[in-house]
Amino acid sequence: METMLLIRPAFAHAAEIAGYRQECLDAGSRMDGCGPLRRMEDPLEWINYCKAWEGEHQPDGSDWVRATQFLYIRPTDGKMVGTIQVRHTFNAFLAAYGGNIGYSVRPSERRKGYATRMLRDTLPFCRQIGLDRVLISCRPDNIGSRKTILANGGVYESTVWVPDRQEALERYWIDLTIPQKSEKCD
Ligand SMILES: CC(C)(COP(=O)(O)OP(=O)(O)OC[C@H]1O[C@@H](n2cnc3c(N)ncnc32)[C@H](O)[C@@H]1OP(=O)(O)O)[C@@H](O)C(=O)NCCC(=O)NCCS
Repeated sequence: METMLLIRPAFAHAAEIAGYRQECLDAGSRMDGCGPLRRMEDPLEWINYCKAWEGEHQPDGSDWVRATQFLYIRPTDGKMVGTIQVRHTFNAFLAAYGGNIGYSVRPSERRKGYATRMLRDTLPFCRQIGLDRVLISCRPDNIGSRKTILANGGVYESTVWVPDRQEALERYWIDLTIPQKSEKCD
């Protein structure tokens, strides 16, 4: 299996980001793990947003926490197959519902194992920033996401109801004190 790149969004990825976004929109897909990409037509706006998001001052007000955005890129053809985002700490919403990590894989690349690998490749970064466990949540009907979490050592904790969204969410914890595989992020 090819080695994948887990990298922060940069100007060089603008065309790929635009293509990824358009494919998700065309498919009517959810776009978890990429912040406001759905509403940002200009990839540069999103790239700058991601940079700000990782900095000291959060872009959308005081309730937002520091987050790192990664793209998951296949080096053989340069295609951006997924996005994954790590929230370094929690606000009230993240502690209860959103958790530390969100992710998506573009529709044409799903069910090829990319989400499972992308999450696996992201866990070393979570350890690097000092987390000893991460919370990930998914809707009960999201079989692909649940399998992705379980394949990475996720342990079910509880199912909670999100009043604002009128939906249930399953909460899983991954213990990062258990040694992970090779680290790859820049
Ligand atoms: C959920 C999502 C990230 C899965 O990505 P993916 O790359 O297709 O996942 P994988 O290929 O690693 O699949 C993991 C497992 O789930 C299974 N799976 C994936 N999608 C599935 C689906 N729609 N229905 C049933 N099983 C599914 C795979 O067959 C695989 O099972 P296996 O390990 O037994 O072989 C992707 O469907 C997606 O981006 N959805 C929209 C955004 C989203 O829901 N993000 C997660 C929010 S919590």
